[in-house]
Amino acid sequence: MGAIHLEEIHKLFDEVHVIKGVDLEIEEGEFIVFVGPSGCGKSTMLRLISGLEETTSGRVVINGKDVTALGASERGLAMVFQSYALYPHMTVRENMGFGLKMAGRAKPEIDAEVEKAADVLQLGPLLDRKPKEMSGGQRQRVAIGRAIVRDPAAFLFDEPLSNLDAALRVQMRIEIARLHKRLNKTMVYVTHDQIEAMTLADRIVVFDSGHIQQQGAPLELYQNPSNLFVATFIGSPKMNVMPCRQSEEPGAASLMNGAAVSAQAESYSGKAAATFGARPEHIHVTAPREGDVAGEVGVVEQLGGDTFLYIDVPEVETITVRTPGISMVREGERVGLKFDPAQSHLFDADGAAVTQRS
Ligand SMILES: Nc1ncnc2c1ncn2[C@@H]1O[C@H](COP(=O)(O)OP(=O)(O)O)[C@@H](O)[C@H]1O
Ligand SMILES: [Mg+2]
Repeated sequence: MGAIHLEEIHKLFDEVHVIKGVDLEIEEGEFIVFVGPSGCGKSTMLRLISGLEETTSGRVVINGKDVTALGASERGLAMVFQSYALYPHMTVRENMGFGLKMAGRAKPEIDAEVEKAADVLQLGPLLDRKPKEMSGGQRQRVAIGRAIVRDPAAFLFDEPLSNLDAALRVQMRIEIARLHKRLNKTMVYVTHDQIEAMTLADRIVVFDSGHIQQQGAPLELYQNPSNLFVATFIGSPKMNVMPCRQSEEPGAASLMNGAAVSAQAESYSGKAAATFGARPEHIHVTAPREGDVAGEVGVVEQLGGDTFLYIDVPEVETITVRTPGISMVREGERVGLKFDPAQSHLFDADGAAVTQRS
């Protein structure tokens, strides 16, 4: 039971309007990821759902019940933060069972719940340790365990992995994905990590200064961003964007150096294209030919699995190209660039997508 309905949510801190009319429907069991630039209101939105923060206006409904006026303890949700906030003097067992103890539950019942959660998170052997005797990843697992024990209607995560080192983040990310499959509970997860968003989410919600810019399945946002903000926010390295002028044909345009480009789509908005967009992996490097976009390779980054090429194109700008494997292209070399029309995008002067791929 974890359906969350948000209706026209506004939040002002004194005069500052931080959340500006958010409507969102979260289905039972869904894994929702909030992304957006720092300060856009992701944490505030999560706190408004949890009840840690009061809405200025709007409604929060959980499982059909209006909880807008209720405090955090009455909403039946569990929140996991970036800082684990474990009690240092308590063992893992005591930390995990503390909420149930405060709720007046009997000891055998608490023990059973703690053991069950410890089992899910493979914390069994650590139950008698104190937080200082554990790694960051283990502590974060205890914080998640404490949330599981409460059997919440939904889990709210605020950048839970951002204090962990890279290897541990990957491991915990996979554990959270497994946990979601296993518990089948609603999860709302804030992150600024592209990979976490793409891999964990059933649906990503992209925020920008207190608004939702777009929401959809990860690949839907990746392949069919509805505007320039989402196009350049989702994906790493970023989508290349270049000013352009609309040509006569819909879907056709010319870059500032005169080169013709095009973007095939199912439909076009009818507005004039002002920006052409192509993701780094959708650009092919060729021998330079008359009429093609050509430039000089400024920097080559060999990552082993992929190579990133930064190509300086006169009157256009630096274009990032991602090629699989180890590239033989050298710094200083002159190359041609081919943009794949089936994977390219056009945006109008307001940044709205001209190309629609359904
Ligand atoms: N308690 C508060 N009082 C005043 N301003 C706040 C408070 N909490 C957050 N803000 C402001 O609200 C905006 C959004 O913050 P936050 O939700 O933390 O962003 P995010 O999590 O997306 O980085 C920021 O400008 C922040 O300074
Ligand atoms: Mg935040």
